[in-house]
Amino acid sequence: MQTKIEKIDSHSAFAIKIIEEAAPESLPFLSFREKLSYANISHPEKKKEWASARLAIYEALQSLQIPYPGFFKDEHGKSQSMAGAGYVSLTHTQGFAAAIFHQNTPVGIDMDVIREKILSIGPRFLAKAELDFLEKDPLHYTMAWSAKESIFKCQGKKGVSFRENILLEPFSTSDQLIKGRIHGTEFSDHHYTIKAQQLQNTVLTYTVW
Ligand SMILES: CC(C)(COP(=O)(O)OP(=O)(O)OC[C@H]1O[C@@H](n2cnc3c(N)ncnc32)[C@H](O)[C@@H]1OP(=O)(O)O)[C@@H](O)C(=O)NCCC(=O)NCCS
Repeated sequence: MQTKIEKIDSHSAFAIKIIEEAAPESLPFLSFREKLSYANISHPEKKKEWASARLAIYEALQSLQIPYPGFFKDEHGKSQSMAGAGYVSLTHTQGFAAAIFHQNTPVGIDMDVIREKILSIGPRFLAKAELDFLEKDPLHYTMAWSAKESIFKCQGKKGVSFRENILLEPFSTSDQLIKGRIHGTEFSDHHYTIKAQQLQNTVLTYTVW
C-alpha cells in the first residue's frame, strides 16, 4: 500500500494511503480490542478500508516517533487514544484512507469522491447563505461537504446538523483554506480553519490550527 506521510509540525502529522490490495491478515500493532473489531468486519472492502485507516495513523505516529497507543470509540463514534493523550481522526473513501494526529488539539479529516449527484442534495446540508455563494459545481459542493465533515469530526458530538449548525464563510474552488464555525448549539462559536486539496477525483480536507 502506498502512503504519503506529512509531518505538519513537531506535534502533528497526517498520512494518506492508496487502498489497492487485499486487507492484511493481521496488524500486529493493534490493541486487543481493535483486533477484535477488525476480526468482526466481514465485508472485504470495509475490512481493507478499516485496516488502511489504522495503518495510516500508525505511520503518521511513527513519523512523530510516538508509539501506537490503541484507540477506542467513544459514545459518539469518535476514536479516542487509549493513552488518554493525543487526538486522532480517520477517513476512508473509494480508493483512499487517511488519518491525522495531533498531540494537543482536536482534529478532523475527511475524504470524499467528487460526484455529480451532490448538487441535488445540496439543500440538505447547506444553509441559504452557502447556497448563495457556491457555484453549481460538484467540486465546490464536495469541498463544502467535506469541510463540514471535518468540522463535525473535529468537534466529535452527534446532534450537530450540517445545515443548521455548521456555517462556512464564502470560498472558491481555488482556495486552499476554508473557514467555518459551529453555531446554535452548546458548542457555539467554535471557529475552524480547514485545509482543502484535490487528489485525483477526491477532495481531502482537514482541520488546521
Ligand atoms: C460519522 C461520520 C462523521 C462518518 O463520516 P463518513 O464520511 O461517512 O465516513 P469517513 O470514512 O469519512 O469517516 C469514518 C470515520 O469517522 C469516524 N467517526 C465516526 N463517528 C465520529 C464522530 N462522532 N466524531 C468524529 N469521528 C467520527 C470513525 O473513526 C470512522 O472510521 P472507522 O469506522 O474506521 O473508525 C458521518 O457519517 C456523520 O455521521 N456525519 C454527520 C451526520 C450528518 O449530519 N450528516 C449529513 C446531514 S445531511
